[in-house]
Amino acid sequence: ETFYLKDYTPFGFEVESVQLTFRLAPHATRVLSQIRFTPKPGAADPQFFLHGEKLNLISAKIDGVAVSPVITAEGLTCDTPAEPFLWEAEVEIDPASNTALEGLYMSGGMYCTQCEAEGFRKITYYPDRPDVMSTFTVRIEGDEEVLLSNGNPVSQSQGLAEWHDPWPKPAYLFALVAGDLVNHPDTFTTRSGKEVELNIWVRPGDEDKCAFGMEALKKSMTWDEEAYGREYDLDIFNIVAVDDFNMGAMENKGLNVFNSSCVLASPETSTDANFERIEAIIAHEYFHNWTGNRITCRDWFQLCLKEGLTVFRDAQFTADMRSASVKRISDVIDLRARQFPEDQGPLSHPVRPEEFQEINNFYTATIYEKGAEIIGMLKRLVGDEAYRKALDLYFDRHDGQACTIEDWLQVFEDSTGRDLTQFKRWYAQAGTPRLKVAESFADGTYTLTFEQSTAPTPGQPDKDPRVIPIAVGLLNGNGDEVQPTTVLEMTQAKQSFTFEGLASKPVPSILREFSAPVILERDTSNTERAFLLAHDSDLFNRWEAGNALSREARIAMVLTGAAPDASYLDALQKLVRDDSLDPAFRALILQPPSQSDIAQALFERGHLPDPQKIYDAAETLTQTLAQQLADSLPRLYADTTVQGPYQPDAVSAGKRALNGRILSLLTRLDGGDQASRQYDAADNMTQQYAALAALLTAEKGTAQSQAFYQQWQGDRLVMDKWFALQVAAAPPEATAHIASRLTEHPLFTLKNPNRFRAVMGALAGSHAGFHHASGAGYQLLADKLIALDSLNPQTTARMCTAFQTWKRYDAPRQALIRQQLRRIKDTKGLSRDTNEMVSRILDA
Ligand code: ARG
Ligand code: ZN
Repeated sequence: ETFYLKDYTPFGFEVESVQLTFRLAPHATRVLSQIRFTPKPGAADPQFFLHGEKLNLISAKIDGVAVSPVITAEGLTCDTPAEPFLWEAEVEIDPASNTALEGLYMSGGMYCTQCEAEGFRKITYYPDRPDVMSTFTVRIEGDEEVLLSNGNPVSQSQGLAEWHDPWPKPAYLFALVAGDLVNHPDTFTTRSGKEVELNIWVRPGDEDKCAFGMEALKKSMTWDEEAYGREYDLDIFNIVAVDDFNMGAMENKGLNVFNSSCVLASPETSTDANFERIEAIIAHEYFHNWTGNRITCRDWFQLCLKEGLTVFRDAQFTADMRSASVKRISDVIDLRARQFPEDQGPLSHPVRPEEFQEINNFYTATIYEKGAEIIGMLKRLVGDEAYRKALDLYFDRHDGQACTIEDWLQVFEDSTGRDLTQFKRWYAQAGTPRLKVAESFADGTYTLTFEQSTAPTPGQPDKDPRVIPIAVGLLNGNGDEVQPTTVLEMTQAKQSFTFEGLASKPVPSILREFSAPVILERDTSNTERAFLLAHDSDLFNRWEAGNALSREARIAMVLTGAAPDASYLDALQKLVRDDSLDPAFRALILQPPSQSDIAQALFERGHLPDPQKIYDAAETLTQTLAQQLADSLPRLYADTTVQGPYQPDAVSAGKRALNGRILSLLTRLDGGDQASRQYDAADNMTQQYAALAALLTAEKGTAQSQAFYQQWQGDRLVMDKWFALQVAAAPPEATAHIASRLTEHPLFTLKNPNRFRAVMGALAGSHAGFHHASGAGYQLLADKLIALDSLNPQTTARMCTAFQTWKRYDAPRQALIRQQLRRIKDTKGLSRDTNEMVSRILDA
């Protein structure tokens, strides 16, 4: 069954209030609901339909009188009075057997819920759609020490708790947690003087991993007050850490539930990257309180309304807390690694899709990350002040409502007077635009001519020109900026912009800060790239120039077997040694483009990418760089080593990132001596992990790997790192074999998504290993996806994206992949989630 945006019809009833009672029992939880409905006069769809899946209905009443609804696999219908009425139902569910981790389930002995997008219908019968909003009162009966739900606590006693959430909300924001948990408490006083109780709830033993998350929460609360004027609106804010969770975290009103990997942090067990990610996700979920909860989505086609905006907000937060240019560069690396392949492959879909079979399959990089890019473009076009004014109007006008992209754009049109009709194409058209640039210079006038085009995507053969904000600056031959950044607003398929009064032909710096999610195509030389790498005032474009040099060097090596480009290696050496540059930036410059990016670039230029050759080129380049830098590596290593007790701040983390890159180069030359010493001395996970990774990648470190295992086998999150690293560091010909062996390890389980992703995600992420000509990687992934699907469709379907780039590769690989995709698709009882993904990947 396919759902269409055009079919939207409001629900025919108002929900006045919801009262729920939970009698908790692992295999037989009873859920009693009392819901007041009022029929809407003249409703387009007057049918009383309540969603409900896998529920055992014990009884149903309307105004106290037993009724017998008609029940299907999707829900129930029932005759109802024409006047307001009280619906009462009792259902029984089995949380202990719920391995899909959707609805009410158990994880490590605790009860928890995940309702977004459509999990509430697995808890009780309800109009489970985001445009139905109501206040909830929840009574929990259970033996657990801690019984939590949304809103404010009403009463607590042994075995019983009552919660009331005064803010009307859709059912997807409902949450319940019950377990023998301990809390890390704190308080926050809002700008208007309201005291809020804060808690992070964890299983006993994890108390010492909450402090960092708590600081991040308080910083987020302050930041949202300052940057957006948004205050928190309940007496209490609870965060709970859960080990078994399909995604990162969930913004349930007043009760955020987190994958433990996205909240628990300690210097001994978490890397700098973990700390930064945790800070960002805590912020993201907190920011949803206004962008998502107070203003929610009318239907799931509008998912980007809350996700794109909230990702944009959390990126602004990270930019403010840390380094803005480093954050921007990292986000673009991520966008190109995850969103571009999606946008250019069989799974391509608009940021606001118009159809879906399973909404869980649309929590994608396109809706999140490209959705955030659209907000960034909008802000750049209207300016910072107008953006803030528009957001004020948005909160003012739509507080308490379930909205659409049209509502969002209308706010900008009304507050800025701008016509956004053409801009809206960013929401409607799938695919990544290509932007070709040509230049000319005569009589002091410099002209840039841009041409945009977007290739057809599934269901969208023709594309119209979009509004593209192109941030441009110009440099003279000395590297001085003769034209500071200006935003060109491109609206035509082909369009020219001129700059006058220039003394000589300038060097352009185009798409500064990556001002639009497009692929820039420009005939340029390595000399000019090296010039921009050395002189551009825009740090993003400096990095971009270095990244392009690196890419071109690799492509030349792959295609002609050439030695690594000398001028590139030269430029790189200068930068690495340049102490005036932020170490975090230098670490990013040293980070090679991913092998998958190189494969995509080769494919676009009409070559069949050979994963082994791409791997070999990367190895050669790293080895050559290490040799050229040999003399300075020990000094660089010493200079970037952070002394003193571990602190997760951005400056120390940047230094450690550079230090880690230096160490991995050094390890190629010194037989692993320095890395072994670092491993032995490390008192924090960042340095311990960096040393182990450097050793394993250089095919050393067997002893350290065993020691790591011995030390950390009792810590699930650290063991995920161990599992993933074994696969990621393996040479291509051994990757599938090692991954396969790890799936037989006693600590491997299909029931924990983090563990599954650690092994299978690392397999899919190892470009040369996954695409090894033997096809062993494809087969292993398919085997495990088939095994997981009957337990957990959501995580299975998500992992199918590993196959989305299959049309890039040669005929034998395509045949091997097709065979595996068919095998998955032919599996008896395959979930709707996985079936939709595999069908879309196969079809295009
Ligand atoms: N709303 C959550 C967040 O972005 C993610 C929920 C993902 N849900 C899903 N069905 N995949 O913070
Ligand atoms: Zn979100």
